[in-house]
Amino acid sequence: MKEKQQAKKIKNKKSKKSFTRLTAHIIPLEYDITLKPDLKNFTFEGVETIILNVTKATKALTLHSKEIDIETVSLEDFSGSPEKSSRKQEPDKIFTKNILYNQKADTATFTFEKTIRTGKYRLNIVFKGILNDKMRGFYSSKYLLHDKEHHIATTQFESTDARRAFPCFDEPAQKAVFNVSLVVPKGKTAISNTLPVKIEEHEAGFEVIRFAPTPMMSTYLLAFIVGDFEFIESKSKRGVGVRVFTIPGKIHQAKFALEYSIKTLDFYEEYFDINYPLPVLDMIAISDFQAGAMENWGAIIYRESALLIDEDHSSSSNKERVALVIAHEIAHQWFGNLVTMEWWTHLWLNEGFATYIEYLALDKLFPEWDMWTQFSTQDLGIALRLDALETTHPVEVVVHHPDEIGEIFDEVSYSKGASIIRMLASYLGEENFRNGLRYYLKKHSYKNTETVHLWEAFEKISGKPVEKIMKNWTALPGYPLIKVELKKNKDTLSLTQERFFASPVSKIKHKKKDNSKIVWQIPVIIGSNKRHKTYLISKSEQSFEKINQNWQKINLGESGFFRVAYSKELLEKLAEPILNKALSARDRLGIVRDLFALAESGDIKTTDALEFLKAYKNEDNYTVWLEITMGLSRLTQIFYKKESSKKDSSKIKSGLDKLTIELLTPIHQKLGWEKVAGELHSDTLLRALAISKLGRALDKNVIKKAKEIFEKSKKGIHLDPDLRNAIYGIVASVGEEKELKYFLEKYKKETLHAERDRLGAVLGDFTQDKILCEVAHFALSSDVRAQDTISILSTIGLNPLGRNIWLKCIKQNWKTLVYRYGDGGHTLARLMKAISFSAEEKHLKTFKDFFKKNPAPGAERSVKQVIEKMESNILWQKRDKRDLKKFFKYYS
Ligand code: BES
Ligand code: ZN
Repeated sequence: MKEKQQAKKIKNKKSKKSFTRLTAHIIPLEYDITLKPDLKNFTFEGVETIILNVTKATKALTLHSKEIDIETVSLEDFSGSPEKSSRKQEPDKIFTKNILYNQKADTATFTFEKTIRTGKYRLNIVFKGILNDKMRGFYSSKYLLHDKEHHIATTQFESTDARRAFPCFDEPAQKAVFNVSLVVPKGKTAISNTLPVKIEEHEAGFEVIRFAPTPMMSTYLLAFIVGDFEFIESKSKRGVGVRVFTIPGKIHQAKFALEYSIKTLDFYEEYFDINYPLPVLDMIAISDFQAGAMENWGAIIYRESALLIDEDHSSSSNKERVALVIAHEIAHQWFGNLVTMEWWTHLWLNEGFATYIEYLALDKLFPEWDMWTQFSTQDLGIALRLDALETTHPVEVVVHHPDEIGEIFDEVSYSKGASIIRMLASYLGEENFRNGLRYYLKKHSYKNTETVHLWEAFEKISGKPVEKIMKNWTALPGYPLIKVELKKNKDTLSLTQERFFASPVSKIKHKKKDNSKIVWQIPVIIGSNKRHKTYLISKSEQSFEKINQNWQKINLGESGFFRVAYSKELLEKLAEPILNKALSARDRLGIVRDLFALAESGDIKTTDALEFLKAYKNEDNYTVWLEITMGLSRLTQIFYKKESSKKDSSKIKSGLDKLTIELLTPIHQKLGWEKVAGELHSDTLLRALAISKLGRALDKNVIKKAKEIFEKSKKGIHLDPDLRNAIYGIVASVGEEKELKYFLEKYKKETLHAERDRLGAVLGDFTQDKILCEVAHFALSSDVRAQDTISILSTIGLNPLGRNIWLKCIKQNWKTLVYRYGDGGHTLARLMKAISFSAEEKHLKTFKDFFKKNPAPGAERSVKQVIEKMESNILWQKRDKRDLKKFFKYYS
């Protein structure tokens, strides 16, 4: 299977980029790499030796290499006998005749005069490279200390950028042992995956730090970091050293991460029943980092906001985020690093699993945070939304060129992946699930797997037909909608399944293209006030005896990856258990989430969903409110347009505002503005949510008070970090030039990254064109790190009043954006999605016209998804506008 795949030259029609997997006949076993970064000239020099096993005679060796200048290449026999390989004996060395670079395939081919017979060899390469500023490969990161610029050399290799640092076999299945040596100026800190074993003098002022060999691992997990760092350290229960590194001056922000990492490490060792194999686990905060964090084995790198907590200025949600990211990356040390996907098609195994398990770990370590309920909106809800598009992709997706690999780091791989694992875990039961994982990880340690290997493990342990159940969930795009109704005799529940689409047009289009009816095997828990039971639905229509006379909740606990459409009578019956909370928060949340989605797809009227909100009169759960307010905000985004002449649009907006005020005022009255000592974590979050949403809904008192608090904070009075998002957002949404100036100045001076993010996140909330233009300009200026530009620009696109400016800015700066973020990666894709709430024809047209002419590397699928979303929004708006206006007559 592997060989066939590897040998095959695949021509990818869509991107027209040729792509070849490296031959399976040249196997790297061990690398010896010495790198000397030059932080003044932003270059590096490298020497490497790779021990290879050649299993088929050849004249040429092809390795991955990108933007590297290869100076000499030589090959010597290494058949294993110590005499032959020893340097003293000067073994036969052959030098390459010719180096051929293939820029499209990112390869370098070394041709030799003599045929290389089968056997073991040492391949020696001397090369030079650039420490780039693109946050990929081996790159430089910058920070200011006492007004002086300092630099760090650091790496980010996933998915395919190890090849920018050293010529290598840059595919996840080409596992090898790496011996890394870094040549650094004396006094600098050098970090890599393992601990230093030897430090030797080099030329004047330099030393060579040699690190212990790594375990057998993939190239994308290697890391090197050189710079000035401070660190704190402690030990896990079993004695693994855990260290957190920051740039100078920030080490006081590392305590939370250190404490929590150790707890997480202890938890996983016990849960997976496999010891973490290295003596040390380093966590490093880097000021310029494109992703949130990266799981390099033993040397996890984070952007600062994903690792550092300042006790006075970080919020509860900052802590949640840091804990989640840490739990995610440490989980990868097993799932991903110890056992790795064979090819990127199975990326979801890494990311979906790590996303699932991060909640499991947090649920155990911080039970009061109620993380599984949050999962229902943050991951399950997000995945259900993306995967309802016709332009989604299957969890297991065929990928070729690196550009396409970047694209799949999306909500399908992460959140749908996590959701289907959760569905399976719930079906198998905790014990079977954990034992299945243990079996899988032990069996495939230091090796590579495909999706089916995970199913095989669960099947073996549980005795259930896991592969058969899971096949359609990973091989096919989309998911089912289960329609539930009572049969005429009123004693039988009928459940039918069909693929759910966010838009009726997509549904029709899809039916025309593919008439076959997919049937998913769906584990469904049906619950009532008396009992609950799990069924495995495997037909397009299935009937069940009615469990009881009262209410029926399908997908009890919301562990299934599907939506439910109740008949009117069954839905009405659910109002009572929502009101009296006989249903759990997760179930209450799921019902309203699906109602909003059904309004979008045209299955019900939007006003039906709004009517049903009455059932949430007594609601007091943070996450349920988050779901409801997200639903309402989405309506505002879709039905509200910029031009004030669009009277319908502003009537609907003011109706939605009044409804929001009516719903949230009781919560706000109960929780007030100030924390109560020892209050629930969820109340802290709910207070901020209520204030934020009331302010955005133009509640006069809330705006007034928010402004007062803001003014006080300007005078140095401490502002509760948990309220900052809300207060800043309200101030910006009603603010003017003066407020903008204040935010920009504060942004530039701020050193706590999480606080800078908070300020950046509200810059797009201003309403005046002129200000939003300034914001766009600022986002792309040197005052904003390239890693943070995208989130600021996105806020402009998410603002219904900012979309014209957003489009203009993207068009004008497209070249810069592609230079900075294109060429693989998933950043451009994130940026595109900001405009996807627009329901305006003119935005759709501009967007379509622009991307017809301009390729979006790494974001082609996102462009299609945004177009599908906008088309669907336009329809939705046309369909329900009048009805909504009528509904809101009472509110305005
Ligand atoms: N393996 C990824 C990092 C990554 C992302 C590399 C995209 C290359 C492209 C890492 O494990 C990850 O998933 N990071 C997340 C944070 C996580 C908590 C969801 C990220 O960077 O957003
Ligand atoms: Zn991950």
